Amino acid sequence: MKNINEMSKEELIFFLDNITDEEKAELTQMASKSRDKNYGKKVYTRGLIEFTNYCKNNCYYCGIRAGNKCIERYRLSKEQILDCCETGHQLGYRTFVLQGGEDPYFTDEKMVEIVKAIKDEFPDCALTLSIGEKPYESYKKYYDAGADRYLLRHETANDEHYSKLHPAGMSLENRKECLWNLKKIGYQVGAGFMVGSPFQTTEALVDDLLFLKELQPEMVGIGPFIPQKETPFGEEIAGTVEKTLLFVSLIRILLPFALIPATTAVGTLDPKGREKAIKAGANVVMPNLSPIDVRSKYLLYDNKICTGEEAAECKVCLENRIKSTGFEMDGSRGDHINWRDKDC
Ligand code: 5AD
Ligand code: FES
Repeated sequence: MKNINEMSKEELIFFLDNITDEEKAELTQMASKSRDKNYGKKVYTRGLIEFTNYCKNNCYYCGIRAGNKCIERYRLSKEQILDCCETGHQLGYRTFVLQGGEDPYFTDEKMVEIVKAIKDEFPDCALTLSIGEKPYESYKKYYDAGADRYLLRHETANDEHYSKLHPAGMSLENRKECLWNLKKIGYQVGAGFMVGSPFQTTEALVDDLLFLKELQPEMVGIGPFIPQKETPFGEEIAGTVEKTLLFVSLIRILLPFALIPATTAVGTLDPKGREKAIKAGANVVMPNLSPIDVRSKYLLYDNKICTGEEAAECKVCLENRIKSTGFEMDGSRGDHINWRDKDC
């Protein structure tokens, strides 16, 4: 098999359209070796706090889109967010991810206040934000307040595909600009996409791989698309676990140092999905720290797992899953290799 790092766009499309089971197995092996070489058997943890399910956008695939009138909306207060961090800190997590819809209530001023409060109280922790597209100045303010990392999946790197997943007004161009701005500011940046989203072609997937290669993000989140019944894509078919795993492996090979989560979405489609993702090259898990009473309101897609478990239960559950796969849970900040010892 030719080295995928050296394939042209056309070669990658041909390769993926004609891939054999043997080649898939070979890629899994290569990815697993690469992860072992660079990160060993460690799986890093990020405590996820879903702090608002209000969103001004209307992405066709997403359950918390503004147009979904069937969900109950919520916002956590600064105090509630700090409580979640406290729980996470006691469980041993040293990274928190604040994720939410694009909620205008959380102005830059409010976000800066929250970021500062978390970094003041938990100076040994890394803080990741995942709150969508913002102007350069806003990203800079959060960074100066102490945010370390930012997750913004690009969703698809193909223009035509992007316009089929999002209403007019959202553009791939702006999405990419946000990612480049985040890099310029100095964040550890996470991009990513869904596997099997409606209208996705092999060409679009190859565009994703080539864009990731160009951007060189520190983190890459990929999970299968799963329909959410109150969205325009509610009747579409879900992506597959198998294809998601293939892309986890491909990304591990293309970006050997990337931090790649075994996503909740892959665990939702297959009870052993996260274990399989780790075997395929992933090295991060994101246990949920959101208060139990809001969990079922953050439904990006149907049947999402971990909505009924307390934070401590999620920890035990994940720890067991990781151990049974032959790996160990690591509670450190889990910075990207280029960031080690830089600022902690
Ligand atoms: N299925 C799978 N993943 C989804 N996301 C949003 N909606 C869905 C869905 N229906 C993903 C997007 C987003 C991340 C937070 O969740 O990729 O960036
Ligand atoms: Fe939450 Fe398994 S990780 S219940």
